[in-house]
Amino acid sequence: MEYVENRMAQEAAKPAASGALLTPLNFLLVGVLVYTAYVFYKPKPPVTLPKDEPAVVFRTFTPRTLLPYNGVDGAPVYLAVRGRVFDVSRGRNFYGPGGPYANFAGRDASRGLACGSFDEEMLTKDLDGPLDTLADLGAEEMDALKGWEERFSEKYLVVGKLVPVGEEKEKA
Ligand code: HEM
Repeated sequence: MEYVENRMAQEAAKPAASGALLTPLNFLLVGVLVYTAYVFYKPKPPVTLPKDEPAVVFRTFTPRTLLPYNGVDGAPVYLAVRGRVFDVSRGRNFYGPGGPYANFAGRDASRGLACGSFDEEMLTKDLDGPLDTLADLGAEEMDALKGWEERFSEKYLVVGKLVPVGEEKEKA
C-alpha cells in the first residue's frame, strides 16, 4: 500500500507533460485546422454578373457616315451588302487595316463581292450620290453576292441599313 502511495506521489510531482503534445502529428493537425478555418472564413469577392455585350442599336447609314467604320485606330469595322450594314469587327483580320479585304471596310461591298474584285471602281465613288443598284450585274454575279450575304448573315450582326443621302429620315 505504501508502494502505491509513493508511486502516486511520484507521478503527482512530475511536471505537466506539455512536451508530449508537441508531436509532428499534432502540428500537422493544427496546420490542417488553421488552413480549413482560413479557407472557410477568408473574405469572398462580391458576386458580379458577367458584363453584357453593348446593346446593338440599329442605325441608318449613308455611304459617308459608314466610311469611318473602317477599323482604323481600333474603330469597329462595318460593311454594307445590298443595303444591310454588317458589323464585321470579328473579322478584323480580313477587313481591318492591312487585311486582304480592307478595301471593303466602311464601304458598300456589294459590287466587289458580286464580281470578286477589289478594284477601286467596285466601290461607290460619290458618297453623297445614289446607291449602287447593281442593275447591270448578271445572274452569276448576283448568285455570288447572295452567297456572301448568306455567309455574313450567319457570321455577323446586322447593325443598320445603308441609304443614300437624303433618305436617312425615311421610315425603316
Ligand atoms: C487569290 C484568291 C483568294 C484567296 C486565296 C482567298 C482566300 C481566302 C481565305 C483563306 C478566306 C478565309 C476563309 C475562312 O476562314 O472563313 C477567305 C475569306 C474571304 N474572302 Fe477570299 N480569297 C481570294 C479571293 C477573294 C476575292 C476575289 C474576294 C472578293 C472580292 C474574296 C473575299 C473574301 C471574303 C469576303 C471572305 C470572308 C471573310 C469573312 O468570313 O468575313 N476573296 N478568302
